[in-house]
Amino acid sequence: MSSAPRVPSTPPDERPRITLPRLAEMKELGEPIAMVTAYDFPSAQVVEEAGVDLVLVGDSGAMTVLGHESTVPVGMDEMLMLAAAVRRGLRTPLLAGDLPFGSYEGSNEQAIANAQRFVKEAGCEAVKLERGGASVDRARAIVRAGIPVMGHVGLTPQTATALGGYKAQGRTGERASQIAEDAFALQAVGCFAIVFEAVPAAVAEALMPRMEIPVIGIGAGGATDGQVLVFHDLLGINTGHTARFVKRYAAVHDAMVAGVSEYVAEVRSHRFPNPDHEYSIDPAELSAFADYLDQDTLAAKTPWDW
Ligand code: KIV
Repeated sequence: MSSAPRVPSTPPDERPRITLPRLAEMKELGEPIAMVTAYDFPSAQVVEEAGVDLVLVGDSGAMTVLGHESTVPVGMDEMLMLAAAVRRGLRTPLLAGDLPFGSYEGSNEQAIANAQRFVKEAGCEAVKLERGGASVDRARAIVRAGIPVMGHVGLTPQTATALGGYKAQGRTGERASQIAEDAFALQAVGCFAIVFEAVPAAVAEALMPRMEIPVIGIGAGGATDGQVLVFHDLLGINTGHTARFVKRYAAVHDAMVAGVSEYVAEVRSHRFPNPDHEYSIDPAELSAFADYLDQDTLAAKTPWDW
């Protein structure tokens, strides 16, 4: 048994739900869009309470919560389980599911079917896919099927091997032009927003006047319409190397290790549990129970009597 999950409350003064028109309006008004990833019920509750606008159930969950070395191994069923848990903890932000590697590249039909699963089975309002090229066709097909799509260009972790590893992209005129072509194409086929990952700030800035849809940056400088960070990175839940673009706002891993260590120490020294954590029983009932334990018949029972 654990504490019962707290379903998002709906006080009358709550923020209105974030919709696609609201995101477009935020871009128009120059109101920065705060996006973050989430992978389960408690992380969804945290981002809800913190006032995030846009939540992505990222395939980065393959690394942050499933322990893989890259985003490649995660499949649709795992992503749907994570996304459904996030949905249960979320009310206000727009929720997007990240189409994992191998779930959309094969054909438009495959892409539409898996995008529909995110909507029907997990309650997502949008999906995200990576890269330009063939992904532009997939994005167009999903949009035509009625599901909002977010693009993702620059460093696209699903194809990091082909990009030469996890490193900044668009650092030559030619590569920056390629990123621009991909971004324009994704915008033209109806994506409602796009992620720019790990591109020089000056490249993102030069592109912004030509972007009509909200651009969410991660390692793309301050000129984009919004920012996204991975939940576990920004809170310091996972340890080890982080990309240059990560800023840690908390040291949750350290706090968790300290808490569990204290628990272990208290168990070993008999300081936990103490009477505050115990249940009582009426003395008469306890005496009746003692009588039961004292019965001769109880002691005489063989294993076959049970
Ligand atoms: O999977 C992910 O978390 C992402 C974000 C970093 C945009 O794609």
